[in-house]
Amino acid sequence: MPRETRGEAKNAHNKGPGPEHVAIIMDGNGRWAQARGLPRIMGHRAGLEAVRRTIRAAVEQGIKYLTLFAFSTENWRRPRLEVEGLFTLLKEYVEKETAELASQGVRVRFLGERNDLPAWAQAVMERCEKATASGNHLNLNIALNYGGRAEIVRAAQLLAKKVAAQALQPEDITATELAAHLYTSGMPDPDLLIRTSGELRLSNFLLWQLAYTELYVTQVLWPDFTGSDLSTALAAYRKRERRYGGIANKG
Ligand code: IPE
Ligand code: IPE
Ligand code: MG
Repeated sequence: MPRETRGEAKNAHNKGPGPEHVAIIMDGNGRWAQARGLPRIMGHRAGLEAVRRTIRAAVEQGIKYLTLFAFSTENWRRPRLEVEGLFTLLKEYVEKETAELASQGVRVRFLGERNDLPAWAQAVMERCEKATASGNHLNLNIALNYGGRAEIVRAAQLLAKKVAAQALQPEDITATELAAHLYTSGMPDPDLLIRTSGELRLSNFLLWQLAYTELYVTQVLWPDFTGSDLSTALAAYRKRERRYGGIANKG
């Protein structure tokens, strides 16, 4: 069979491996609410229903890692009432869902600068992480007070402290060593990044980890996102050819 035909046949049958790690920029809550003449916070509330649906779908699809961008280090720029409302909703969601997540075999971890968050929020996060620690179906990362640049700066500081304490030589700082000091230490990089609501930017999400991630942008607003939208994104991913700077590998 000629090479080209073989490549097409592979795509037509959709046989590429599925992604192990999916990251999502959950965007469009505000626009969803605005379109209905509702306050923005109602969009965030509806967004949490989409979170619930997506986690269930990810478990069903056998995805091993799901990383959701919930609140960025830049989102503090929003009106105080929106920020407070968001944190209240997140607290309610996490407290209400923890038992269900544990029963689905979901292990929750929060990524981001948690020391800057109020003590009650830190306590909620810790309780959820502890209660789900034995989950072994899906690793769910919730990026909260997360910024990609802040994460890399933090890793640089941790490494600098080790060098200053003579626990590490400067030449031992490799890409692997730096990655080991990120919040995602020990996890594979995302294979697929989904962004909802059409914006074509990373907004400071996982800057290091997304180096070779496949990007998928949908116009669907996050509160409307369903398991079927996830399946569509996964199917698109399976048709991609990942090259990592090499050349086409068509066997
Ligand atoms: C994403 O939706 C949720 C957060 C950033 C917390 P937005 O609130 O950004 O919604 P749009 O982009 O204004 O529509
Ligand atoms: C990114 O969305 C952050 C989250 C989804 C939590 P934003 O709505 O904050 O991004 P920008 O401001 O449009 O770049
Ligand atoms: Mg937005």
